[in-house]
Amino acid sequence: MATSGYRGTRSATQDGTDSTAATLIIGGVVAIATLGCVVSVAGALSGLLAGHGWAWPSGDDPALFAGLKATITSPSNPAAAWPGDTAAGSGWLFWVCFAVLVAAVGVLAWKVWAFIDTRRARAEAKERGLATATDLAAANLTEAAAVMRARRGNVTYDGVKTRDIDPAEAAIYVGELRGRREPVYVQHRDCTICEGPTGAGKTWRIAVQRCWDAPGFLAATTTKVDMIAATIGERKEVGDVEVFDPTGLTGWPKPLRWAMLAGCEEPETAIERAAALVQASPMEGVRNSSFWEVRAATVIRCFMMAAALDNQGLMTVRSWVNLKQWKPAYEILHGVYADWANDLKSVANNQSESTDDVFGTASMLLDPLADPSIARMVDVPRHESIDLESFVLGGANTLYLACKSEQKKVAPIVSALTAEVYRILDRQSQREPNNRLAVPARLVLDEVNNIAPIPHLPDKMTDSGGRGISIWAFAHNRLQNIKRWGQTAGQEFTINAPNRIILPGLGDQQELDSLSRLFGTRYERMSPDPHDIREKAVLSVDEIREMEEDQALMIYRGTKPIMLTLPQVWDRPDLAHAAEASADLFNRIRATGDVTTRLADMPTKAGQ
Ligand SMILES: Nc1ncnc2c1ncn2[C@@H]1O[C@H](COP(=O)(O)OP(=O)(O)O)[C@@H](O)[C@H]1O
Ligand SMILES: [Mg+2]
Repeated sequence: MATSGYRGTRSATQDGTDSTAATLIIGGVVAIATLGCVVSVAGALSGLLAGHGWAWPSGDDPALFAGLKATITSPSNPAAAWPGDTAAGSGWLFWVCFAVLVAAVGVLAWKVWAFIDTRRARAEAKERGLATATDLAAANLTEAAAVMRARRGNVTYDGVKTRDIDPAEAAIYVGELRGRREPVYVQHRDCTICEGPTGAGKTWRIAVQRCWDAPGFLAATTTKVDMIAATIGERKEVGDVEVFDPTGLTGWPKPLRWAMLAGCEEPETAIERAAALVQASPMEGVRNSSFWEVRAATVIRCFMMAAALDNQGLMTVRSWVNLKQWKPAYEILHGVYADWANDLKSVANNQSESTDDVFGTASMLLDPLADPSIARMVDVPRHESIDLESFVLGGANTLYLACKSEQKKVAPIVSALTAEVYRILDRQSQREPNNRLAVPARLVLDEVNNIAPIPHLPDKMTDSGGRGISIWAFAHNRLQNIKRWGQTAGQEFTINAPNRIILPGLGDQQELDSLSRLFGTRYERMSPDPHDIREKAVLSVDEIREMEEDQALMIYRGTKPIMLTLPQVWDRPDLAHAAEASADLFNRIRATGDVTTRLADMPTKAGQ
């Protein structure tokens, strides 16, 4: 924490005692004057209502005290002792007027207090160096500004009045500015990385909401059933749902089957698919891993293409790899893509020891296929496979991708499918006006580093938003990102996204330090003496790590740090109810095996 510039403090005890006494005296005088005023007006008003005229107290005493005195001496009927020529109304009328006036003064006082408090909170946030409501408006993060920003350049809103646009559709509601009731919105184009340790609230404060509010196609990866259970009900209301679950995590009765070799006759597809498999492989501890990865990717892309061209299945690829048989693939490729055949030959026909390592690495990547239940999900004849393109581009459909966290070896398969989904969306975006999907697609990538590290994701976080692909990625911290992507890309992944949300409990000391440094310092006044100031970090390391559990720090483009309050699903009855109803539906589908069941078919819903 920066404390340089500290100029000493002076004792404030004496000042404090004096100011407390003064506040009490002033407060007492104001309270008595207000009460006198209310009593006098109540008396005068009761006189008016009783038909005597405006009975404002008069006489030797000042009006405020005269009315008060009459009320104290004759509380049951203040009119009996009311000073002045005009009589006040009867006792009950007086007290009714008094009660109404007290209520009116109370409401007025509350309004004034709220106004002052808002001003004070704004001034405090400004002094603290945190973003205020004004900063939010300037960055298009307030409700009104976010809607205006969303309609700019968006043909969907041509001819629609701004007031008819639903902010929750045009933009994404994230939470509230802390200490204020100011809702904070970001744009669909703002790809976001959320960081926080296990239990920080990634799922229940952010990911579930992002599944609920996705306006179009949604792909969501997860290592736990809870996110699927909580959101499937809502998603089934807007489109079709498929669950890809090669490890049998969810117990979903009809998990999606995908022909992983589909399209691999095309060089681009084969390259992407092999890259996705390699990118997601758990290569920790393997010496010189990137060297083997590049070569293993060459072997796999060539084998996949050869198998696809020859109508073979994935198991053929696996046996070629395990038996180090490169010649059949070479023969198939030779007549079609001679340079690919040569690529394969140069890597596979090398007499050096490294060839064994290349095949070893490739074999490790395909190892999950040894489990027949996993192989059944991806080694699928074309006619039995999902038509992924139609599904992804066919409206507000949902694809859940589940994978047990302890079965890390399967992650490459999940990642390959996620990458394919991205590729379909990306290709489509380039065919639409402005090279952007008219209805934004959403990718909610929970445990992104473990199960969904799609190739070049750090770059995609910065350029997908403009194509209408909105990525919300969830990671633990910078160290985990570096471990997955390497030093440079891992750093980029951590800091380059247009929007970054840090949840409480971040454990990476270096990241905490760099965050604190990023926000710089401010001067804090220690006493009314203008010279009595010290320099402090806008947010210290401890303040970032020890945020309260419903708090989050949002770093949005060039804006000052934004302190958010993030609602949790279980804290809000409406959200908790939606999540529970969805979970009931999920459990029923698992029990009956009928995947067509929807919320409307549920007994509790029908009874409502
Ligand atoms: N069904 C539930 N009811 C109430 N609280 C829950 C429920 N499920 C999870 N929580 C709480 O939500 C908090 C955040 O958990 P979660 O969002 O899963 O964190 P993360 O995804 O970052 O690991 C946890 O502290 C947990 O106690
Ligand atoms: Mg979670």
